[in-house]
Amino acid sequence: MSLIKILDLQSLGDDRGSLVALETHRNIPFDIKRVYYIFDTRNGVSRGFHAHLELKQVAVCVRGSCRFVLDDGHCKEEVVLREPDKGLVIDGVVWREMHDFSEDCILMVLADEYYDENDYIRSYDEFLTYVSERRSIKGG
Ligand code: TYD
Repeated sequence: MSLIKILDLQSLGDDRGSLVALETHRNIPFDIKRVYYIFDTRNGVSRGFHAHLELKQVAVCVRGSCRFVLDDGHCKEEVVLREPDKGLVIDGVVWREMHDFSEDCILMVLADEYYDENDYIRSYDEFLTYVSERRSIKGG
């Protein structure tokens, strides 16, 4: 199963332009509790470099572009987000990195929980240990 799950958020376009509505359990597969956005990212800066234990997120590049790398400790996949009507679902314990932010990039992220530093794994080694222990408990 691919790590890259893209939602079609359905742009409502007419001759005035475009509009996208994001709605809990309609086009977003969880209760939206938090929205944050990343912008003015300096040239050459990469972000992320963490996994979450429980958090579910959908990332939408509402302007510009950036490249996501998702890694479940077993395989690594990447995708460039550049369409404001496409949402990348990030759930499960997945290491994420964001690279190649365009100068105009505004990356909006919807999350199913409030910010909680205890939900983060910020060390790649700890992440690998966590997922390999979990895999051996599950027997797969
Ligand atoms: P950080 O996790 O480093 O961002 P990224 O994953 O994009 O590299 O977050 C930057 C700072 O912002 C850090 O001090 C935590 C804080 N923060 C919040 O207070 N609330 C939030 O919702 C998020 C995502 C981060």
